[in-house]
Amino acid sequence: MAGRGTLACVGTGMMLGAHLSPRARSTIAAADVVFVAVSDPLVELWLQGMHADARSLQPYYTEGRSRHETYRRMVEALLAEVRAGRTVCAAFYGHPGVFAGVAHAAIAQARAEGHTASMEPGISAEDCLYADLGIDPGALGCQHYEASQFMFYRRRSDPSAYLVLWQVGVAGDRSAARSATGPGHRRLLLGRLLEDYPPGHCITLYEAATLPITAARMEEMPLSDLVDADLRPQTTLVIPPAVALQPDLEMLDRIARLDRAEQERAATATPSQGTPHVDEHHPIP
Ligand SMILES: C[S@@+](CC[C@H](N)C(=O)[O-])C[C@H]1O[C@@H](n2cnc3c(N)ncnc32)[C@H](O)[C@@H]1O
Repeated sequence: MAGRGTLACVGTGMMLGAHLSPRARSTIAAADVVFVAVSDPLVELWLQGMHADARSLQPYYTEGRSRHETYRRMVEALLAEVRAGRTVCAAFYGHPGVFAGVAHAAIAQARAEGHTASMEPGISAEDCLYADLGIDPGALGCQHYEASQFMFYRRRSDPSAYLVLWQVGVAGDRSAARSATGPGHRRLLLGRLLEDYPPGHCITLYEAATLPITAARMEEMPLSDLVDADLRPQTTLVIPPAVALQPDLEMLDRIARLDRAEQERAATATPSQGTPHVDEHHPIP
């Protein structure tokens, strides 16, 4: 049976006090209880000032406990209040659905139990990255991977597009319980990246500003320096393309033949209307 409890997962954005959408703000205000999943104590305080019953999820993180178990317990904490018929809001920093499995899992569970559950997007580290580094993902493409997953599985990464590796500070952590991995794991990540990029390729360690008075970290270095780099929990690794776009000559030929056939059909029908649309991101080679 559907219960009356509801769940809304909202994003606070990356910058304290600057990124919260009006919809997220009103969802917080209308909730009976607000769970807070943010990494910065100042952001926690800010949210506590917005709601009398704002509960931090930080205590669920315990040294040595697998993050999977931590996340399972967080989902259960949210669901217990939803099952009790309350209007529950969970506020996550950035976007609640970007590299944030708790929000997705909690919404899926709430819906499976017949409750109304929704997600309110927020400004993620990805959004800030595009703005600060001047990257348009539509120009050359942009691949996003969780750094450990990128190491554990054979991904078909494309060095003609941007590559963004999240959670690079814990790259290679099979236990999902560490707060950082060291030079050994990074050497293995470097080895994997050297399959696609030269050692001197310029990479960027990116950290979006989280306070209006601080600046973003955009530290450039050669790929070979990754092993000794200062990788923090909030660092995202950005690797620009190393090779030019490779035209797919066979596909281009098939498209040209299709276009010719369509033009021939059009020439024998009514006169054509208007000019063809030209996509500035995909000039025809
Ligand atoms: C669990 S994910 C959370 C992402 C968040 N939900 C978002 O929307 O951006 C944590 C990872 O996000 C990235 N991240 C978190 N804070 C960041 C910041 N200030 N600048 C750049 N990347 C950040 C890092 O890759 C970090 O390891």
